[in-house]
Amino acid sequence: MNKTIGVLTSGGDAPGMNPAIRAVVRTAASQGCKVMGIYNGYDGIFDTNMEELGNQSLASIIDRGGTILQSSRCKRMYSPEGIDLARQRLQEQNIHGLVVIGGDGSLTGARELAKRGMPVVGIPASIDNDLAGTEMAIGVDTATNTIMQLLDRIRDTASSHRRCFLIEVMGRNSGYLALTTAVSSGASISVIPEYRYNMERIVSVLHKRFQDSKDNSIVILAEGVCGAQEFMDRMQQAMPGGEFEQEVRITVLGHVQRGGIPTHFDRMLGARFGELAVMGLLQQETGCMTALNKGRTTLVELDQVIGKKKHPAPELMRLARNLQIEFGDAVEV
Ligand code: F6P
Repeated sequence: MNKTIGVLTSGGDAPGMNPAIRAVVRTAASQGCKVMGIYNGYDGIFDTNMEELGNQSLASIIDRGGTILQSSRCKRMYSPEGIDLARQRLQEQNIHGLVVIGGDGSLTGARELAKRGMPVVGIPASIDNDLAGTEMAIGVDTATNTIMQLLDRIRDTASSHRRCFLIEVMGRNSGYLALTTAVSSGASISVIPEYRYNMERIVSVLHKRFQDSKDNSIVILAEGVCGAQEFMDRMQQAMPGGEFEQEVRITVLGHVQRGGIPTHFDRMLGARFGELAVMGLLQQETGCMTALNKGRTTLVELDQVIGKKKHPAPELMRLARNLQIEFGDAVEV
């Protein structure tokens, strides 16, 4: 087909971006197209920081976390003039179609480019899993596995000292990571931004566990609620007499959640999304995003994704309740 497809990774990196890049390059080659790898997110368009990606660029990347193309949160894409310029630069470089791998902000930029006539297909990649229209984004599975393993380790030390741990996890405004890892790690409490938490109940769960001589209590706090120290202070104020009866330690997991070898699931998802994005572009699809729903990959309109709130799946909330994880009132914020 002799077309040139550009590919970039933007926003927070996510494990599985590299397998997606690999699938883009291989699929394009299978279809007789070449791929320009654009470095450093959208900044690479403005700075003409790009090069052709061939098989040699793909050596040993399938099992690498992060992104070989590197990433950025590009401020120049925030203004209409900036987006016009990016569109122009892509044209000057003879790029006929663009694959944007990233999260909410990155795909907002993709939609704007598509509106200006640039053929663009997005690939959802963000550990936050906050994009509407798809059940999963690249990186979520690896991040949840990492968090789960770290929580297992924390429970070892918590049990040894009969302590309570308050663990802050990432997710921006989404509680997905906090909620699902509470289930998979057997935490007692999960505090997420989508539901109003009930401090009285949190304190009483902790009190009861202590009275029942449970050897540990794990509270998982989504960063979208507030910082761990602030939550700790609020917890303390709610304790009878303003005192914890149990020792409490804080752990903020931080960026360790974003790194690491992509799991089988994320490699498969990267491969499936990368292939579909290229096939979509070659079939004149644009302004859309690859998605995984009910086990099937499809393309969904970015207009149906951007600015839409993704609610936690009701069956996930029911599961958490039935497993007696305290997460607050059944009132969505
Ligand atoms: O969007 C991914 C994410 O890791 C969020 O969970 C987190 O709030 C944010 O990025 C951190 O961004 P930065 O790497 O710029 O500190």
